[in-house]
Amino acid sequence: MRTFNSLLITGGCGFIGSNFIRFLMADRNFKGHIVNLDKLTYAGNPLNLSDLEKNHSDQYHFVKGDICDNELLQKLFGQFHFDGIVHFAAESHVDRSIYGPAEFIQTNINGTFALLECARSNWQPGQGLFHHISTDEVFGSLGDEGHFTETTPYDPRSPYSASKASSDHLVKAYHHTYGLPITLSNCSNNYGPYHFPEKLIPLMILNALSGKQLPVYGDGLNIRDWLYVEDHAKAIWEIIKSGKSGETYNIGGRSEKTNLEVVHTLCDELEKAAPAAQNPKLSEQGFSNYRELIHFVKDRPGHDRRYAIDCNKIENELGWHPVVSFSEGIKKTIHWFLDNSTWVESIHSGAYRQWIDQHYGE
Ligand code: NAD
Ligand code: DAU
Repeated sequence: MRTFNSLLITGGCGFIGSNFIRFLMADRNFKGHIVNLDKLTYAGNPLNLSDLEKNHSDQYHFVKGDICDNELLQKLFGQFHFDGIVHFAAESHVDRSIYGPAEFIQTNINGTFALLECARSNWQPGQGLFHHISTDEVFGSLGDEGHFTETTPYDPRSPYSASKASSDHLVKAYHHTYGLPITLSNCSNNYGPYHFPEKLIPLMILNALSGKQLPVYGDGLNIRDWLYVEDHAKAIWEIIKSGKSGETYNIGGRSEKTNLEVVHTLCDELEKAAPAAQNPKLSEQGFSNYRELIHFVKDRPGHDRRYAIDCNKIENELGWHPVVSFSEGIKKTIHWFLDNSTWVESIHSGAYRQWIDQHYGE
């Protein structure tokens, strides 16, 4: 089993990165030092981890910066002598990649390249571990049958997935060419606490509570395989500790749902947790339940129809299994959003950006 003294985690102020850092620090799962390098784009929110910064300053260190900044990367390596890199930082939203792909190419491809070069120049062949977080979207779109396995050929179809596919290839090439120890994971759709409210599940929860329309793309029958984010964090930790260098692992929830099923479940669970009849934002508009807010809108261009992950390899080789069921995870997620209205409000009002400017400058 690998052990680490000093981890560089990129993109740790985003949704999955912040959940991963929280998992590492909970119950002292990891006792070494963590440096979280994050550029704080619109999706990066240091408030996700502000308690850790305050209470665990001996173990956790935040650096605002860009993974494309070679000089900064070299400086951090010199200062913290990393023996592992866990690379989350990316532009992650498919819709944004359709309307503005440039940032996706810069961060997801060039940024990964910069990190790989820095690792190669600081580690001898065989030293360290570079773990790259990737997505099932690199495999393209499935028909009604079948699952993505680790050997499914790449067939990315959006600028986002093409940029992630490109970064995956670079990571594998550095292993084969330079002997850089790497592991790579391709995961399905995550959901849970700190999810930025542009993605399906948090957007629907918050729109519903505000009495706004629930925009379902196309016919709502596209399928995604949903995984509670804490299960993803545990899978990554298992791979980093015990995954074989050079290998990729698929991670999924064995939980395929159409988008419409997801939205119906959210509406029905919200009904129990915060009944629409008692919500003036709905009653004032004459709505009596959340489902009435569902609105079919124009489809996403190139919308992949179905994703489904075969996660036998990580289950059989590393003993990881998804433990949070979809129905349990959705309840936990709804309650998290209801209980964290200050976090939600700081995003909706833009106050989190002002906080960032005050604390970290422009
Ligand atoms: P996110 O958009 O919530 O967070 C991305 C983080 O990266 C933000 O904190 C942002 O500030 C930071 N970042 C962006 N560009 C940067 C740069 N140039 N330098 C430093 N930091 C930068 O994303 P997420 O949903 O947490 O996804 C994290 C990773 O997991 C991504 O690589 C994504 O492709 C992958 N992934 C996501 C999902 C999912 O369902 N969200 C599923 C599978 C894989
Ligand atoms: O599969 C893993 C991927 O999951 C990650 O690599 C991406 O970073 C992550 O954003 C996510 O991509 P998706 O495009 O699947 O997620 P999103 O939440 O944007 O959309 C989920 C589904 O819901 C998709 O079929 C599009 C649909 N959708 C989305 C939004 C935002 C709607 O119908 N309405 C919406 O308003």
